[in-house]
This record gives sequence, structure tokens and C-alpha cells, in this order.
Amino acid sequence: MPGIVIVGAQWGDEGKGKVTDLLAEQADAVVRFQGGNNAGHTIVRDGVQWKLHLMPSGILHPGKLCVIGNGVVIDPRVLADELEALKARRVDVSALRISANAHLIMPYHLLLDSAGEAKLGKLQIGTTQRGIGPCYADKAARLGIRVQDLLDEKILKKKIVAAMEPKRLSLRPYERNPALDLRTMTEEYLTYGHRLERHIADTARLLWELLDAGSLVLFEGAQGAMLDIDHGTYPFVTSSNPVAGAACVGAGVGPKAIAEVWGVAKAYTTRVGAGPFPSELHDALGEALRHRGGEFGTTTGRPRRVGWLDLVALRYAARLNTLSALAITKLDVLCGLDSIALCTGYRGAEEAEFSEFPYHQTVLHHASPELTELPGWQEDIGECRSLADLPPAARDYLDFIANAVGVPVALVGVGPARDQVIWTGEPRDSLLLAGAQHAAP
Ligand code: IMP
Repeated sequence: MPGIVIVGAQWGDEGKGKVTDLLAEQADAVVRFQGGNNAGHTIVRDGVQWKLHLMPSGILHPGKLCVIGNGVVIDPRVLADELEALKARRVDVSALRISANAHLIMPYHLLLDSAGEAKLGKLQIGTTQRGIGPCYADKAARLGIRVQDLLDEKILKKKIVAAMEPKRLSLRPYERNPALDLRTMTEEYLTYGHRLERHIADTARLLWELLDAGSLVLFEGAQGAMLDIDHGTYPFVTSSNPVAGAACVGAGVGPKAIAEVWGVAKAYTTRVGAGPFPSELHDALGEALRHRGGEFGTTTGRPRRVGWLDLVALRYAARLNTLSALAITKLDVLCGLDSIALCTGYRGAEEAEFSEFPYHQTVLHHASPELTELPGWQEDIGECRSLADLPPAARDYLDFIANAVGVPVALVGVGPARDQVIWTGEPRDSLLLAGAQHAAP
């Protein structure tokens, strides 16, 4: 029963949507397992751009089972709007299934997210202000409201009252906000219940059945390992676990269901929001790469911080996720540079050297990058479809990454379009093997 997990191996925005969309061709189901509409996946198909926030990236494949798992936090307004927008563009959304156990982002979560950031002042995290943190906090406090609650007015009302009670003080400034009126909120959420009802299901059971039948299931991560609440650059992280292990918890399957883990990383590094970023470029080159790579948030439109590829962080992500393959995206953005640097170590206070990701936050905040320079290439690589087509310097760059991380590169992105990729022939064979198993009776 082959499950393949696709995760971000950096700080998010690595291009997981495109990789998932490509692998989804061979899969029977695509499952989101954590995060919410803080994520933004951009997929370009036949010159048309699709921006998805909550929808699994498999949704553009007609009839493919797409699951929003229990580990996702759902803003039902965003989900209902995304569904309508897809339908308006004639996308078949009938195979979408939403876990009845997934938690809902409520209007007060949005307000508390903004208020929390404002209170932090200079120390703010730079959240997407989509209510993600407060929603996961309520889930842990057992004050969350779940998708299944949308189907029962009495329970919904009771739970809203119970959830708002301990927040009375922090919500006082919003007393007159109509979105917080109990009746209005209940009615609004019941409407979402009606709109989403046909998609609500026991999604874990659906996945067990598929996996039992040998089907290929893709688990699509959001954000990235360095934003993981346990393993990332805490507190400058998201409130869920974007690492591969969370696919099991967030979808309701056991670890034996996972056959492979693909890590997606850009050929350089970006980060949105605050927090340490040792290989960040603060100069004109960083600005140029930001524009060349279109590094502006899909969700918030914020300019992303840009830096050299951080191999210390990538090695750490490879271990956290037991990566079996790397997908390196946006290699084309590095075309035309005389030389390209990679961060191969950190230097801390008093010249301390770190080849492994330091566990102490203070060290990381003061870390400067140890850079290794490789020759760049001038050629446009947008038309390359095999490793042999690439300029030797680009091949050397990829080899350097694979050797430093200890994980083979399976896929390389050379442009935004769906066909602008190079399959290296590496673990794609094993994916095909998984596909072959799936084809077997
Ligand atoms: P939150 O997830 O909205 O609470 O934001 C927490 C941190 O995670 C902030 O630094 C965000 O910029 C970052 N973040 C959340 N989602 C994404 C994403 O999809 N891509 C990149 N960064 C993200």
C-alpha cells in the first residue's frame, strides 16, 4: 500500500503544488494533512494560473479523490468560495472529501491572530493572519469546533458559547463586531454546513480502503520543515507539523502506509515573515532574485526574503523527514549568474563553526553563513528536459546539492509551466514501481 508524502524542505513556498500536481497523474488520491489557508499553491496549466489555498493540488485531475484530512484547519468561508471559483471554471470538484474531524477557523480566531501579532509588537511572527494559530490552540485546549459540528445547530451553538467564554477578555475590543454575534455566527456557519455537507466524510476510512487495495495515495504537505512547530525556528513557525510524520496523524493512517517521502526545495531559499534566516541576501542580488523568481506570497502578497540555498537546513530537513528524493524547483531563476553560492555551514559567536543545524535559538539568530561558491551558467535552461540538456555548471550544482544532503535529486524545475521539468530517472523508478504495484490486482 504505497503512500507517498510530499513535503516542503525549507520555509514553505518551495513549489510543492507543482510537484504534487505532476505526481498526482499516477496517484489515486491526494490528501492535505496539516495547515490551512495560510498555504498557497500556484499551479500553471496550459498557460492558465491556478491559485489554491485549501484544496489539495490533485483537484485539477478530474475525478481524482481529493481529501482534506483531519489535521487541516478549515476556514469554511474560504473553502466554500474556493469550491465555487473552481466550479465556475468548470473544474469537477465532486471527488472532494472533507474530514468530519477537521477543525474550523472561526471569526474570533481571525481577530485573535491579528490582535496577538499587534500585541507582540517588534517580536511579531509575521503570521498570515488567517487564524491558524488560535484555531490550533483551541484544538489543543479542546475548545475547537469541528466540521461535523456544522451539521447540528444545537451542538454548534453550545460549542461556540463554550469556546468564546474563556476569550471574553481578549475579545472585549471587538464586542460590537457583528461577526461575533452568536446568532449571526451560528447561522453563517450552518450555511457553510449545507454547502459543504455532500463532501463531508470519514476520510481516514476512505484512505484505508484505498491503501488496502494497493492504490497510490499522495500526502501533500503545506509550509515546510523549518516552519514546523516542534522542529522549526520556534517561535517563528506555524502552528502545525509540516514534517512527513504528521501525514499519518493528519490523515489517520499508520506509518507503514508511507513508502516514500519527497522533499521539495527551491534552488535557493526564501522565507516569509520574521525569524532567523542565516543565508539571507540583503543586497541588490537578493532583490533581483526576488523579482526574477516572482517571490511574493500567494496568500498575502508579501515580498519573500531571499537567500542562497541553505544546505545545513536542507540536511536537517532531510533527516527530519527521512527524505527518499529531492525535487529542486526554480533552477532557472539562477541562470545568468557568474557564480552561485551555497551555505555549507554556519559561523556563530566567537567564530564557532556549525555543520549541523544548531538546536539553540540564540545560536541560530547570530549565525552567519559559510559559503561555497560554484560557477554559474549563462544559458537559458527553460527548454531543457533531461539532465544532459543542462549546462555542465547547472548539473554540477545539482550534484553538489545531492551529495551534501545525501538524497538523490528526482525532479528539477526549469520554469513555471507544468512541462518545464526534468525527471532525472532517479527514484521516479520507485514511484513507477509503486504505480505498478497499484496496477496489480
Ligand atoms: P501562520 O501559519 O499564519 O500562523 O504564520 C506563521 C509563520 O509561518 C509566518 O512566518 C508565516 O509567514 C509562515 N507561513 C505560514 N504559511 C506559509 C506558507 O504557506 N508559506 C510560507 N510561509 C508560511
